[in-house]
Amino acid sequence: MHATRDGATVLDGVNLRIQPGEAVCVIGANGAGKSTLMRSVSGLLRPVTGSIRLGGAEIGRERPDTIVKRGIALVPEGRQVFSPLTVLENLRMGAYMHRHQPRGRTDNDLARILDIFPKLVARLRQAAGTLSGGEQQMLAIARALMSRPRLLLLDEPSLGLAPLVVESLFGVIEHLVRDGTAVLLAEQNARAAFRVCTRGYVLEGGHVVLQGETGWLAQQERLQSAYLG
Ligand SMILES: Nc1ncnc2c1ncn2[C@@H]1O[C@H](COP(=O)(O)OP(=O)(O)OP(=O)(O)O)[C@@H](O)[C@H]1O
Ligand SMILES: [Mg+2]
Repeated sequence: MHATRDGATVLDGVNLRIQPGEAVCVIGANGAGKSTLMRSVSGLLRPVTGSIRLGGAEIGRERPDTIVKRGIALVPEGRQVFSPLTVLENLRMGAYMHRHQPRGRTDNDLARILDIFPKLVARLRQAAGTLSGGEQQMLAIARALMSRPRLLLLDEPSLGLAPLVVESLFGVIEHLVRDGTAVLLAEQNARAAFRVCTRGYVLEGGHVVLQGETGWLAQQERLQSAYLG
């Protein structure tokens, strides 16, 4: 795919593939095009030229809500929780596309997801804006899971979080992958990303400059100097 912003090329022939249930990362510095990639796949940035396919179906021209219904959910950079709404209201918003289904099904999803994020249980009636950064990131992921994605897009979830918080967050992501959710993870923190992903791409200036298994990537000089310092 190719993407332009304000007339400038930001993604220049990027070609990625994610198998069902696979955890793949996109490593890149500020401005590399990670968010542009995530937002394009989610349908939030148009037009994109080239092709975006989900299980054989072309989705590169579809609307964001259709793409969510098809099974791709974005956890945006900077969390973007609805601050004045409660944690519970945020979670229910994540199930918006299933609003016509029986209430019991949403409640089951909610119970299952709160099992993964037990810390949110005590905070359900609290305004999301009052949560810590790490809790807001957990909420943003939990909200995305309410749409029952096959593919979860995570845009720099570690941003601005303390190392211990990052560790617990990535433990949760690992758990989701083990449960069968495919993940595309954009990160500058390669060390954290390599813990959960089996394969990765390195994005520089809108190009994939390196790709392979994360064990192999971690050995590459180009990565060690720039992202693994
Ligand atoms: N709304 C916009 N209008 C014009 N150009 C933009 C816009 N958003 C991003 N860009 C440009 O697109 C390029 C890629 O930005 P993008 O946000 O995709 O990078 P990123 O890899 O997510 O960076 P970061 O790590 O800082 O989040 C940058 O050169 C940026 O200046
Ligand atoms: Mg970004």
